[in-house]
Formats: sequence, structure tokens, C-alpha cells
Amino acid sequence: MGYTDIYQSWKSDPEAYWLKQAEAIDWVEAPTKALFDRGDDIYEWFADAKVNTCYNAVDRHVEAGRGAQAAIIHDSPVTGIKQRITFSDLQARVSSLAGALRAKGVEKGDRVIIYMPMIPEALEAMLACTRIGAIHSVVFGGFSASELAVRIDDCTPKAIIAASCGIEPNRIVQYKPLLDGAIEQATHKPDFCVIFQREQEVAKLVEGRDVSWYAFQYGVEPAECVPVEGNHPAYILYTSGTTGAPKGVIRSTAGHLVSLNWTMKNIYNVDPGDVFWAASDVGWVVGHSYICYAPLIHGNTTVVFEGKPVGNPDAGTFWRVIAEHDVRSFFTAPTAIRAVKREDPDGELLKKYDLSRLRALYLAGERADPDTIHWAQKMLDKPVYDHWWQTETGFAIVANPVGIEALPVKVGSPTLPMPGYDIQILGEDGHPKPKGELGAIAIKLPLPPGTLPGLWNAEGRFRKSYLDTFPGYYETGDAGMIDEDGYLYIMARTDDVINVAGHRLSTGLMEEVLASHPDVAECAVLGAKDDLKGQVPIGFVCLTKGVDRPAEEITRECVALVRDRIGPVAAFKLAVVVDRLPKTRSGKILRRTMASIADGEEYKMPATIDDPAVLDEIAAALKTIGYPK
Ligand code: COA
Ligand code: AMP
Repeated sequence: MGYTDIYQSWKSDPEAYWLKQAEAIDWVEAPTKALFDRGDDIYEWFADAKVNTCYNAVDRHVEAGRGAQAAIIHDSPVTGIKQRITFSDLQARVSSLAGALRAKGVEKGDRVIIYMPMIPEALEAMLACTRIGAIHSVVFGGFSASELAVRIDDCTPKAIIAASCGIEPNRIVQYKPLLDGAIEQATHKPDFCVIFQREQEVAKLVEGRDVSWYAFQYGVEPAECVPVEGNHPAYILYTSGTTGAPKGVIRSTAGHLVSLNWTMKNIYNVDPGDVFWAASDVGWVVGHSYICYAPLIHGNTTVVFEGKPVGNPDAGTFWRVIAEHDVRSFFTAPTAIRAVKREDPDGELLKKYDLSRLRALYLAGERADPDTIHWAQKMLDKPVYDHWWQTETGFAIVANPVGIEALPVKVGSPTLPMPGYDIQILGEDGHPKPKGELGAIAIKLPLPPGTLPGLWNAEGRFRKSYLDTFPGYYETGDAGMIDEDGYLYIMARTDDVINVAGHRLSTGLMEEVLASHPDVAECAVLGAKDDLKGQVPIGFVCLTKGVDRPAEEITRECVALVRDRIGPVAAFKLAVVVDRLPKTRSGKILRRTMASIADGEEYKMPATIDDPAVLDEIAAALKTIGYPK
């Protein structure tokens, strides 16, 4: 069957379609029913099943004779380490870690925060949690102590598993002081912390609270897989929203297994045993789905790469890893390809490696600009597939289903909706827009298995963020259009979320931080176009009356404040002082108009603007920091 038939077979009987896909999972008790309608637009999948994630990702492959196959290849140019961990090794390591967590009181339903860099132990910690039914929440290493504290207070973990450090270009990031600071700031205190000591940095343990990774596993009984209900949360992953508080996206166990397993062949076109590589980080959804869970569930080898695309030692690193480990499908963010292109525009480094076994490059996480796609197509001489999804969905909403049928690529479009997703472009009035017209991208409810059933501790916010605007639909937060052939084009966010180097960030959070500076009376943050990172944040601050210090001093403090409160990942390096912010007559700040000025784009004077002259002041301030570029 081709794509159209498969999509139609899903549409005509979604329940039968997903029950069929569920047969690829090993259940303790198989689901008798696919969809559970909980009323009021809340849905769950496979809720009456019993299953274990870790069993499906690890143990079942050992039992099926894949024990000697590499489950994880760790390639770390920043430390020089290359390591292969077989499915049998992984089973032993994960069951020992899970046993040690259980021995210290971690049980089904308890939360565990994981704060680790790109090392196999991060995946082992995730799998150990799911093995005993604990709910993990991985926090990206580039976030600050304050952001970690916010997550500790929201998900109230019984334990935190951290590494002693991460490694960034030219610096070791000591995790332990950040962890200690976060626990001090947080109201909730974990019972204990497990610290994985790395050679590059040995952290000092807090007596009575911290245990070391190996020592606490000594002599424990390895843990077996604990069956959990299909709707039991496998994990919580925090993502940026419009306000400063992050949203804790919940991922239910059974739908996660079924949907991710489906994608490995149908989208990424790999068979069990093939090597698959997603160059991202376990702190993001791409890392959850495609570094850890999907490849392992499907019996693939996953590559855990610790390093940057450039400078480790050069822009040929990606190609070396692909050739050396026989990667068949490769997934990364467009920004990483732009970084490589900038260093090696003619692909000289690429020519050093045999990439004949690579089948395709997959891009997601941010808009894939045509230049980047064309460059990668030309250099690799392979198909380049853009696909679109979000933390909330956990897998592609729109993609090219290459394992079913490679559809023609239209550069600029991630192609067509995957089974499970009925996409509509809606106007502000909630009515569908005609083909070719821009509108809000919405998905008809119910969403497919594997997508979020709700937000942790925040049902009201879940409804407000996703369900209230268009009754009967999930609001994606993206705007776009569908062409005559049904291809979707993603044009912009409809909220204040920006995307910096493939990282989703909230300008609202940055504004909250800037507003906390004692000399700042009012502020606005927007995302300006950037050749490498896609977007970068720029902050505009109005000073409190009577403040008489040099503007540069204050903007320097603002930059330091954001780095301290949110973390280096915010990449907040540009702030300017202005007298006034452009507003509508009702007082709404005109951020989009400001962004158009920063990008050097034509803009329409907003009809409701209070004082058009303020826009000239904004343009003059932007000029002082080199914008538009
Ligand atoms: N721990 C601690 N700090 C981190 C970090 C981590 N895990 N990840 C990034 N940072 C820091 C960086 O060191 C940098 O700090 P600096 O301001 O001192 O230089 C800052 O956060 C910004 O990082 P980043 O935006 O990644 O910029 P960069 O200049 O270090 O690298 C790229 C640029 C394009 C090479 C890099 O962003 C990249 O490879 N991106 C791939 C995107 C990706 O994987 N996205 C995931 C979603 S698919
Ligand atoms: P995240 O939840 O971090 O994965 O970010 C999801 C958001 O990133 C989406 O809502 C989009 O705004 C953007 N995004 C992800 N993939 C793409 C893509 N292929 N094209 C355009 N934007 C994308």
C-alpha cells in the first residue's frame, strides 16, 4: 500500500489502525481497545493494557537473540571516548541501576529528575526509571540552577540523577554546583541524588544526600521490569510556553511505544539492526524520542554523540561518525548543517569519508531554509527530508513517509500529514481557510497515540494553551498553509516562542528575568533572524525614572542576568536601552513589528499604534547593535 491508502485506512478506522500497529509491541496484557474518550476533549490510548517501556527497548531484544548487537554507540570527540554497549550489557547495566533506585525507595509513579550530558549513562538512567515505573524528567544541561529549581518544584522528584560535568567548547560545565544551587533554591527537596563522576571533573558529594553512581549499585538485587498501565506516564518533559513557567508535557507509556516503533520504518526507513543517529541532546524531545526510545524499541543501534558539529576537531565530524559507525539514517537540526556549511562550504571534509551506506538526512526542530536543504542535497547526493513536530507530539506530525513510499520533496515543506493527524488551517474565527491561505495550524482531536494527554500539574493550562482557542482541535502554536497537493508549509509561531539553534525558548521568560533587574521599568524580547541559529533574542529595556547609569553597564548586567537565571542556552547576548516601546492604544507591545524592523523586512504600520514615531526610535536603537544585518 502507498501513502494515500495507508493514510485513508487510518482515517476510515483509527482504532483498528492503531490496534494493528500495537501488535509490534510486547504487552504484559494486550490492549482490548485503542481509544478511551475521557470526555471534555481528553483522550487516552491503550489505557487498559499492561506493558513496560524498558522491556520493549532492551530485554525483548536480548530474548530475541540481539543480545550481542550494539544498542548504544557512544562517540565523544570531546573526551576521545568511543564505546559500544550491547543490548545484553545494557540490560545488565539498567537492571542494576533500577535495582539500586528501588533499594533506596524509588517506586512506580515516583518522579526522578535526570541532569546529564550526552553519555550512555543518561539513557541508562531514563531506561532504569521506566523499568520500575518511575517517571523521569530530563533537564537539559544548558539550563541554569534556577530553571532546574523550577522543575524540581513542579514535579517534586524523589531522586535526582546527575553527572559531575558536561563538556562544552573550551570549558567544563560543572553540574554539581548548579545542582546544589537548584536544590537550595527549590522548596521541594529530593530524598537523594545519584552522581555519575566523570574523569574530567570529580564532584564533591553532600554527605547523607548524595551517592555515587557505582557505589550505590554495589550488592543490590537487579530489578525486573514492572508492568504499568498503558496510560501511566513514562516521562515528563518541560518545554517553553508563552509565560515564564515551563510546561510539563506528559508522555503516556503505551502510545509512546506504539507510535515511536511505527516511525522507525515508515518515516526513517530503518530495519532492526541498522544504525540510526539523531545528533541532538537527551534534554530535548528529539533526544527522548530518537536518541533513546524509538531506535531501541525498534531494535536499532543508536549513536550517542557528545560534541558539536564543528570544532571537534573540524566540520567533518558528522561525516566521520556516519562513515565509521555505518549510520543508515541521520537526523539533526538545520542549524547544525548551517554550522558545517559555514566552515566547509565546498564539502572538502565530506569527501574524506565513505558515505555510500547513508540513505538520507532528516531535518527538524526549526524551519529548514531552502539554502541549507539545497546545500546538503548537493554535498551528500542523498535525499534530505524536512519533517515537522513538537515536544507535545513526540513524533512527526508532517513528514515524508519514506519507508512506505518516498513522496516528491518540495523544498520548504515537510510534506504530508502522518496517520493520526488530521490537519486544518484555521482562521481567527475557527473556520478552515482555503488552500494556499495562511492561518493557524490545528489538529482535529483526538491526537494520535504517543502525543501528550495533558500537562503535569496543570490541567487548566493544558486546556488554555491547546484546546480552548479552536473547540475540537489541538492548537499547535504554528501558523502555515496547505498547497494544492496537500503539502504543509510552516511559516511562523503564533505565540512568543522563538527557536534559537533548534532550541525552543520563551521570550516571555526572558522578559520576566529582565523585568526583575532593579533599573528596568519595562521591557520586550523578540527573536531576530540569524544566519546560523535561525533566530537570536534581542532585549529592549526602558529604564526606571531617575536611573542615571551608563546604558552599556545596564545592558551588560541584563545579559549576565539572563545567562544566570535561564542558562547559556538562551543565547541572550544583545540588549539595548530605549526610551519607549511601541504599543497599541490599548497598551499591547508591538513585538512583531519590532521583529520586522530588526529583520529589515517591510511591515504594515499597525492601525492601532499609539505613536508611530516610537518605531523610528526602535530602528535607531537596533542600528547601534548592527541590525538589520
Ligand atoms: N550544557 C551547558 N551549556 C550548553 C549546553 C549544554 N548541554 N549546550 C549549549 N550550551 C551553551 C553553549 O556552550 C553556549 O555557551 P556560550 O554562550 O558560552 O558560547 C550557549 O549554551 C549557546 O549554545 P548554542 O546555541 O548551542 O550555540 P553554540 O555556539 O555552542 O553552537 C551550534 C552552535 C549550531 C553548533 C549548536 O547549537 C548545534 O549544534 N546545534 C544543534 C541543534 C540541536 O541539536 N538542537 C536540538 C533540537 S533538534
Ligand atoms: P520543540 O517542541 O522544541 O520540538 O519545538 C517545536 C517547534 O519547533 C514547532 O512548533 C515549530 O515552531 C518548530 N519546528 C519544529 N520542526 C520544524 C520544521 N520542520 N519546520 C519549521 N518549524 C519547525
